[in-house]
Parts: sequence; structure tokens; C-alpha cells
Amino acid sequence: MAGRTMYTFAFLSGFRSDRLICLNHIWYAVFMKKTVVVYKSMYGSSKKYALEFARRMRSEVSDVKSIPSDADIVVFFGGLYAGVVNGLAECVKHLPHSAELVLVTVGLADPAVEENHDEIRKMTDKVITGELKNRTRIFHLRGGMDYSALSAKHKAMMWMLVKVLLKTKKERSEEDQSLIDTYGSCIDFVDFSALSPVEEFVRNF
Ligand SMILES: Cc1cc2nc3c(=O)[nH]c(=O)nc-3n(C[C@H](O)[C@H](O)[C@H](O)COP(=O)(O)O)c2cc1C
Repeated sequence: MAGRTMYTFAFLSGFRSDRLICLNHIWYAVFMKKTVVVYKSMYGSSKKYALEFARRMRSEVSDVKSIPSDADIVVFFGGLYAGVVNGLAECVKHLPHSAELVLVTVGLADPAVEENHDEIRKMTDKVITGELKNRTRIFHLRGGMDYSALSAKHKAMMWMLVKVLLKTKKERSEEDQSLIDTYGSCIDFVDFSALSPVEEFVRNF
């Protein structure tokens, strides 16, 4: 909001565009809330998103255990594992008391499918409770999976999941079928353009 007001003001004052860009950077540097990026990533997808987001926002990246106490907004990126956001509980534990939390989940499930959000929300509601709920905004992004890089435990979990899907589901959803079809391969849905709504939200906060 502040940035837009700035542009309108400068436009009306007849500023040149190069000066305008410079002015806008100063405006953000002075008035933007302190944004800190935190991530927990097992195989790299959340890390890729987090580092790109921090680059775009020129934000500090912090370890979950040492989030600066003066952070206004903490943007946390975490991978989904059996419906649980990896590292979220730890992030909530170390979140400064007055900071807003922007949670970005990274999973294989398609964020365009609304039911997937509901499933994730059931789990996050167990961790994000009470007054923190009012200070939290959640976004969902798509990650990837390289079966050759998975730990033995994770390989076994995926094998079991595919076995259950093959056995018990007669009418499979497109997503379940895709999980079966891509079993054992390398899939990468990481798409930096999907960061734009998160970026817009934080910039306009
Ligand atoms: C054992 C296992 C369980 C997973 N469970 C889910 C899940 O419940 N929902 C989902 O959308 N993706 C799930 N995934 C996919 C991961 O979320 C995906 O690979 C993501 O990109 C991981 O992010 P990271 O590499 O940053 O940890 C699972 C992956 C593994 C290996």
C-alpha cells in the first residue's frame, strides 16, 4: 500500500522514472516492516523458495532458533511430510511474541485443489493456536521429489503409500494416479512465479 501511494505521489509531482525507482527503494527501506525468512527443508524445495523470496525482498535469512526478536514478519517455508509441516512447531516456539507469521507450506499435492488446503489446515491448527491464529497467514506452494535422493525411511513410506493407493482405490483422483505414475522418478514443480502472492502480501502488509 505504502509503495503504491509513493508511486502516485511521485507521478503527480512529475518525477522521472529512475528517480522514482530509487525513491521507492528508500521508502521500503525506511518504512517496510522487518521481514525475516526462515526455512526447514529436507530435500531442497523449501530452501529454493525461501532463498529466492529473501533475494526478492532483500530480507535476512535466519536459523529457526535465532529469529531476531525485533522481527515484525517471519516468513516460514517448510516441506509437508505426511500432512505435517516440517519445522513449524519449532518456528512457532521461537517466534517473537509480536511478530506476524507468514507460513508457506511446500508439498507435492497440488495447491489448486481446495481439499488439499483443508487437510493441511487440520494439521496446522494443532500447532498455530490461540491468539497466534490472528497473526498468521498461510500460503501453499508446490515442491518436488527425487526418489533417488530420498532416505530409506522416506522411500519405504512412499512405497507403502503407492501400494495402498494401488490396492484400495478403485476410482483414483488425478493426483493419486499421478503419484502412482511418477513413483520412482524425479518430479519438480518448483515455480518461483508462485511466490508473487506471498511477496505482494508481505510488501503490502
Ligand atoms: C515421506 C514423505 C511424505 C510426504 N508427505 C507429503 C504430504 O503429506 N503432502 C504433500 O503435499 N507432500 C508430501 N510429500 C512431498 C514433499 O512435501 C515434497 O517433496 C517437498 O518438496 C519437500 O520439501 P523439502 O524438500 O523442502 O523438505 C512427502 C514426501 C515424502 C518423502
